[in-house]
Amino acid sequence: MKCIKSIKKNANDIRKILLKNNHISRDYKLMTDEKYVYIPLIDEYDENLIDSIKTQYSFEVTNHNFTQSQHRARNFIDYLDNKIDPEKINDIVKSFDIIGDIVVVEIPDDLEDEKYNIAEAVLKFTKRRSVYAKKSKIQGIMRTRQFEYLAGEENLETIHKENGIRFKLDISTVYFSPRLATERERIVSQVEDGEIIIDFFAGIGSFPINIAHKKNATIYSVDINPEAYKYTKENIKLNKLKGEVIPINSDINKVIDTLPKADRILMNLPGTSKDFLDVAVNHLKKGGILNYYEFAADYETPINRVKKIAHPREIEVINKRKVKSQSPGIWHMAVDIKIN
Ligand SMILES: C[S@@+](CC[C@H](N)C(=O)[O-])C[C@H]1O[C@@H](n2cnc3c(N)ncnc32)[C@H](O)[C@@H]1O
Repeated sequence: MKCIKSIKKNANDIRKILLKNNHISRDYKLMTDEKYVYIPLIDEYDENLIDSIKTQYSFEVTNHNFTQSQHRARNFIDYLDNKIDPEKINDIVKSFDIIGDIVVVEIPDDLEDEKYNIAEAVLKFTKRRSVYAKKSKIQGIMRTRQFEYLAGEENLETIHKENGIRFKLDISTVYFSPRLATERERIVSQVEDGEIIIDFFAGIGSFPINIAHKKNATIYSVDINPEAYKYTKENIKLNKLKGEVIPINSDINKVIDTLPKADRILMNLPGTSKDFLDVAVNHLKKGGILNYYEFAADYETPINRVKKIAHPREIEVINKRKVKSQSPGIWHMAVDIKIN
């Protein structure tokens, strides 16, 4: 079983980062000996995340024999009064997404008849307000999903806390992923005070508000979805910001010519952001940075795409990482590219 072997002094800090990124295996118990702590990793752990933690702490990724942890699943099974095959329980637990006080679950097809029992158990187990099941993939130009109400209070609106910020949203009318919290932190750490930034596909302002919370930058937060725009305005008011977030409800193509040239452009629409690359490159100042996202199997695909569109301008790849797995072999990739 792959694990992180760390001296005790650093183990808790490392554990917290792994936990936040859903990188600790729930099937095994953390172990210690006199000198070291062994933290079990999930099977598909992200090597980039491990590398980024290595820049702060020294540790080893190694194999270790762990004893199986029944604890978490056991609680959940207890709430289900043993109605469901215990082998399936861990898969359900792993599918939880918690957005504010809403738990989103994936109910496997063969457990459809048990969905209300499962949802009641999830409600007790997580002590949140509402439980919804995913009813569609993320779809359409606005990247939204349909949900089915299962348990607790029927209310799709919630306030999600992330990096000391509060985000109000309706999970069915706007896009929001709590799994991007670390990615947002990474972007914030790159930004310098005084930057002019455009987020082409800003949703409820999740990247812009994270940036403005910590940095004195000006961020144009553009989204085509009127609901996303409505929540961006509310979220600006909900948080104390050092910088300025300017919400705009428009197709980026229609509004770009009215915006100033940018030091940085964010493009987190990984399925189709490539169609907007020429507009973005043309709108970056000399030496400006593109934080570009694409679903791809390797880093070369997004990097070569930017290189081709930027030609004859020189590009410099500052950073690249796999944000999360999209489907087998395909990653939600991030590349940070300076365009000279
Ligand atoms: C994947 S979501 C990302 C939202 C946000 N960046 C985040 O990470 O939470 C993409 C967003 O782009 C918006 N969008 C799609 N096409 C657009 C366009 N042509 N102009 C502006 N926004 C667009 C959608 O409404 C959606 O909110």
